[in-house]
Amino acid sequence: MSRLVIVSNRVAVPDESRPGGLAVALQAALEETGGLWFGWSGRIDPEESGRVRTQTARGIEYVTLDLSEQDHAHYYNGFANRTLWPLLHFRVDLVDYSRETYAGYLRVNQLFADTLAPLLREDDIVWIHDYHLIPLGLLLRERGIKCKLGFFLHVPMPSSDLLAALPNHARLFEGLSSYDLVGFQTERDLERFQDYVRLYGRGRVLAYGVLETEHSRRLRAGAFPISIDTARIAKLAADAVGKASVRRLSDSLSGRQLAIGVDRLDYSKGIPERFRAYGDYLERHRDQRGRLTYLQIAPVSRGEVVEYQTLRHELERLTGHINGTYADADWTPMRYVNRNYPHASLSGFFRLARVGLVTPLRDGMNLVAKEFVAAQDPHNPGVLLLSAFAGAARELDGALIVNPYDTQGVSDALATAVDMPLAERQARWNSMMQRLQSHDITAWRRTFLNALRDSDLDSVDSD
Ligand code: G6P
Repeated sequence: MSRLVIVSNRVAVPDESRPGGLAVALQAALEETGGLWFGWSGRIDPEESGRVRTQTARGIEYVTLDLSEQDHAHYYNGFANRTLWPLLHFRVDLVDYSRETYAGYLRVNQLFADTLAPLLREDDIVWIHDYHLIPLGLLLRERGIKCKLGFFLHVPMPSSDLLAALPNHARLFEGLSSYDLVGFQTERDLERFQDYVRLYGRGRVLAYGVLETEHSRRLRAGAFPISIDTARIAKLAADAVGKASVRRLSDSLSGRQLAIGVDRLDYSKGIPERFRAYGDYLERHRDQRGRLTYLQIAPVSRGEVVEYQTLRHELERLTGHINGTYADADWTPMRYVNRNYPHASLSGFFRLARVGLVTPLRDGMNLVAKEFVAAQDPHNPGVLLLSAFAGAARELDGALIVNPYDTQGVSDALATAVDMPLAERQARWNSMMQRLQSHDITAWRRTFLNALRDSDLDSVDSD
């Protein structure tokens, strides 16, 4: 079997204690086949980019690069997270574009290509991940790399009119045609990409999922909804019941129900909107006041980026306001925590909760929604409140689907969840859990990698 090479900005090197969601999802793929994981080391070199670090663990070779302060500022904090991230999450209002950061983004992608190309073998399968590395495929091809190249976009593909707001969008997205296969989270993302290619990319859609660009290059594209290690999370959660951190949380609730939200502190997650909905719930559903405590875990993310700092201040203000308005001498309605918890504790917290609040304004998939479901106790499952604008809403049909912009709608759904009878909770949970058992992380990566291996476009006829 060909060697698998995974490339992503963030690499879950063995001693990394806080890998991102993407990193967790990929670890298992390499453990199964062995292979190479290439990306940023997570370290900043005060002077220059390019120091290579190599280590091997559990049959996986990790090759990572340090970035200079300037490259990190322009590539990661700049173009990736102040231009592409808001754009791809439909937030054109937050897009900050500059030629300088775009040049830094290309420079780091070139550095990745220069360092990776000599490490590749002819029959490798190379799987590149996410918006940080869109141009990498083209840059590898320019360096003579002929092996199969796949790309997966973990975040949404926005409507084409929004994408077109990006200067140089055509150059950037044309680069996708260097890949043999481009994967999106949902069919909707794929459809929007096809619209973009037709309307702005001067290309053609030859058949659903088969595209031809202006320069007659063909590529395959498909929807591959990412998932979780369902069985592992279910077991972690069941085992976590006896854990000290989970018991302490349970004891501290004094018999009240728990609502939980776990999100990176990111404006795409709709956290202020959720807080306002919770305030509305306390105001309008007075009969339930005091029956529920809401725990929001929101580890700080991309804290050097100004929009993230603004959001943090807003959440601090809202939490203070809600607690100040509704708390009683023996009850605080919300707990707001910026620290991170190990997976085992989080799964246990999910299992304790009556309600999971997952209400992003936009999200590629949202794995927290899936983990919340997998962690539930089959005999007494909690209810998932899920935004219609998360990719996961396409699969998790047993959730209460909400519009995060509709404050009162979210607030009413929360009240419904708190009072939902056991039989209905079980019926909703069963259908979601069945889906997650058949479509887990292993199924996801196998489907993508099989499609990449089979991605031979010679067999496609144009019409
Ligand atoms: C999202 C992105 C990932 C990223 C993760 C954590 O899930 O799709 O590519 O790794 O957020 O963000 P960070 O900036 O800390 O890597």
